[in-house]
Amino acid sequence: MAAQAEYSPGLAGVVAGVSTISDIDIEKSRLIYRGYDVHDIAEQGCFEEAAYLLLLGKLPNRRELDDFKKQLANERSVPDYVYEVMARVPKNAHPMDQLKVGVAALAASDPDYDVDPLNHAANVRKAIRLTAKMGNLVANGWRLAHGDPVVQPHPELDTAANFLYMLRGEKPDEYVAKSIDTSLVLYAEHGYNASTFCARVTVSAVSDIYSGIASAIGTLKGRLHGGANEKAMEMLIEIGTPENAEPYIRGKLERKELIMGFGHREYRISDSRAGIMGEMGKELGRRLGNTKWGDIADICERIMKEEKGLFPNVDFPAAYTYFLLDIPIPLYTPIFAVSRITGWSAHIIEQLDNNRIIRPKCIYEGESLRPYPPLDQR
Ligand SMILES: CC(C)(COP(=O)(O)OP(=O)(O)OC[C@H]1O[C@@H](n2cnc3c(N)ncnc32)[C@H](O)[C@@H]1OP(=O)(O)O)[C@@H](O)C(=O)NCCC(=O)NCCS
Repeated sequence: MAAQAEYSPGLAGVVAGVSTISDIDIEKSRLIYRGYDVHDIAEQGCFEEAAYLLLLGKLPNRRELDDFKKQLANERSVPDYVYEVMARVPKNAHPMDQLKVGVAALAASDPDYDVDPLNHAANVRKAIRLTAKMGNLVANGWRLAHGDPVVQPHPELDTAANFLYMLRGEKPDEYVAKSIDTSLVLYAEHGYNASTFCARVTVSAVSDIYSGIASAIGTLKGRLHGGANEKAMEMLIEIGTPENAEPYIRGKLERKELIMGFGHREYRISDSRAGIMGEMGKELGRRLGNTKWGDIADICERIMKEEKGLFPNVDFPAAYTYFLLDIPIPLYTPIFAVSRITGWSAHIIEQLDNNRIIRPKCIYEGESLRPYPPLDQR
């Protein structure tokens, strides 16, 4: 019975490891990547800086950042056989399932494929390759699923702009690329969330980074995790008008239904990422002359605060920001993965650098030991 008292459903509040990658300051609702407030990186930096910080442990100086960007540009292309495999996935597949296939197929083409998973330097190289290729897999995966030809990555564009370029075949406006870049900074890392923990569990058996990432993609797809940004947008579309927002949310709450894009296991007052993203989404709406989604969001936020004391998480404003940028809804969670590849990889590297297989206990509540009846006596 002692073990039962220690059990915490959903592992809420359970310490499952030690990490130097990110911290959540619950009192101040701050997310910190290796000592730096994500707010500062989002406002003054870029996704590549966040990626360098997460993967290599320090902020890059100007020369290091330039070199890192060149390295990513050199690693962005994907072998043709990977596109062929992805193209064969049934067209009704969610892009996250297609992405999982792409990452799994990519593994054997990595020049370090045969290197032991415990090799730190090879893991960093693999992580950089994956970071470079994720946007390509998502953008061209979408194109393949729609019968469009692959667009090769642009050698001079960074991750966010390149993603949009490959998706649409043309260079994006600067503010559009900046909006996606900011979302990538905010989505990059978040401690022992479900997908990251899943990646750590997978590699703790001394499996490779590609296997860890494929597991993480499957986890991120879930609607309580990364999938929430797509569900939040579907909900906003269903709401349709600011007038409908209050009765819609109240109706859902009365029926004890979840409001997607609200709540968080760790934060208690707010999700600071949602603040940055929300300001950006609303500014984007003003710029595009379409403030409807921001207006609906404000009403949802007010009712959720009044009724449940809950606040939006980053997925809520990310949803209407992406919608304003005309990004297809099924790509919202894959874009999250294009960013979170950095956090996942940093955790995988950290796990393998100081590994012990993750193998928790469970409480057995099944039948007591009983005699095994022969087949013809059952
Ligand atoms: C994020 C989430 C999974 C955290 O789950 P959790 O820590 O296990 O929290 P719980 O599900 O125990 O929620 C605690 C209470 O708040 C309520 N609650 C939490 N999130 C809610 C939401 N989005 N809408 C309505 N009620 C919510 C729960 O119903 C529960 O109420 P109760 O105590 O009356 O039963 C949860 O808030 C959620 O499902 N949110 C919607 C999905 C989402 O946006 N996910 C993205 C997370 S970044």
